[in-house]
Amino acid sequence: MSVLYIAAAILLYQFYRLIRRSAQRPPGPKPWPIIGNLLQMPKSHEWLTFAACGIEYGHCVYLTILGQPILVLSSLQAANELLEQRSAIYSSRPRLVMAGDLTGFDQSIALMPYTDRFREMRQLLKKELSDSSLKIYWPLHEEESRILVKNLLAEPAQLADWVRYYAGSIILKVTYVMAAFSEASQPGNWLVDLIPWLRHVPDWMPGAEFKRKATQWSKLHMEVIEEPYIWAKAYQDSMALITPHFTTTVLSTESNEALTEEQDNLLLWASASLFGGGADTTVAAISSFFLAMALHPEIQRQGQKEIDDVLHGKRLPKVEDMPSLPFVRNIMREVLRWNPVAPLGVPHLLTQDEMYRNYKTPKGTIVMPNIWLILHDPEVFPEPNNFNPIRFFKSERAVKTLGVAFGFGRRPYPGVSFAESSMFIAIATALAVCDISTAVDNERGSSISANVLYKTGTISHPPAFTCSIKSRSESAMKLLQRTLEEEKVS
Ligand code: HEM
Repeated sequence: MSVLYIAAAILLYQFYRLIRRSAQRPPGPKPWPIIGNLLQMPKSHEWLTFAACGIEYGHCVYLTILGQPILVLSSLQAANELLEQRSAIYSSRPRLVMAGDLTGFDQSIALMPYTDRFREMRQLLKKELSDSSLKIYWPLHEEESRILVKNLLAEPAQLADWVRYYAGSIILKVTYVMAAFSEASQPGNWLVDLIPWLRHVPDWMPGAEFKRKATQWSKLHMEVIEEPYIWAKAYQDSMALITPHFTTTVLSTESNEALTEEQDNLLLWASASLFGGGADTTVAAISSFFLAMALHPEIQRQGQKEIDDVLHGKRLPKVEDMPSLPFVRNIMREVLRWNPVAPLGVPHLLTQDEMYRNYKTPKGTIVMPNIWLILHDPEVFPEPNNFNPIRFFKSERAVKTLGVAFGFGRRPYPGVSFAESSMFIAIATALAVCDISTAVDNERGSSISANVLYKTGTISHPPAFTCSIKSRSESAMKLLQRTLEEEKVS
């Protein structure tokens, strides 16, 4: 009889352990009472600290800050299993009070929760950014890339400004607002995100610097969102004739009836989401390209040689040349991988309690894929810190994995081909016409080394730098001038 008791006790104990284990949170650094992991949260370059945690704790790292649970996904497998396969419950966005309520980005699709309005807006963007619609933008990308290179040759010290001008070609200010987005939307950066009632603190109160910043950003944000939209609507007939443009293209394809207030508002924010989403990301990626070329002259030569071999100096590259310029395309891919534009993506939100690998993650958890770490996995990308475009010739898996640079599940950037064509043509035109060298850190005044540390932010830029940009030859310069005259879109 006593054996039976002992067996029952053991069974009960095992059952209890199973229940306890199944109710356990995923592994992570030990939290303090109340504040959780607040003191351990990195103040900068979070992706590097989270990468170290990923190596220590595995696929998922669980943290809490003042009761807010955060799950950082350290492997492609975990990101796929959760954000892709269970996308129905991992596709919302957390409420970021600083970036959303106070600065006004909550109407933009990137921060919108997974609602009907989100689905409607996403449909609209997907339709306009589908591969078949995109060709109409190619001549615009081509012309702008020639103008970018012309401006850079004339004023190489203004690299940052000219790249911003290229990316935000409709209105320059957009890109400055997106720098605000990048800072405002960093999870854990703002106490008001964790203690939302702080939003009611008056602007004048000592310590309310965040409120003053938000008021200033919000005003600038509204100017930038509304002004181009009102302008595009006013000139929609003449503009459609001049250049393709998202807002006017949609307006002209909608039925002739006037838009309802709701449709109008949806279109305004869809356009704004595009300007915003594209401007700062493209700036970061193209600046990163110039830095990579200044640091790796041998790779630059190889890219130039490919262009010369294919085009024989007869014309400048076009977007449609992408398949015949695989090395140049792989330079673009390596730029996206080496220092990913969005190292931790844009945070997702888990909308119901969830079990994964016997761990329980509560509803309301903020989920961040460590895109930087996934793109530095040495199994897929050997010697991941080296800038090496050749890796994409050798590994189909590397090409496939690179897709994570654009996000996951139901929330990835809806127009990868759009981003690729604008990046590719800027890169190909620069390689065809310019010699890029000698990168100098603007703040330190010293040359930048190959293991350069990029800036912190939802969108991560290289440190401010200047490099030498000269024309490769007189004939390259003449070809640029001739093309500028021939290709004028507007
Ligand atoms: C260098 C190129 C780019 C990269 C690496 C990039 C990366 C990303 C990432 C990681 C996300 C978050 C996805 C997620 O939540 O899982 C995102 C979202 C988004 N991107 Fe980009 N992006 C790029 C260019 C662009 C461009 C050119 C545009 C607009 C023309 C754009 C518009 C958007 C929008 C609207 C979203 C929000 C999607 C949503 O929340 O549903 N992006 N992007």
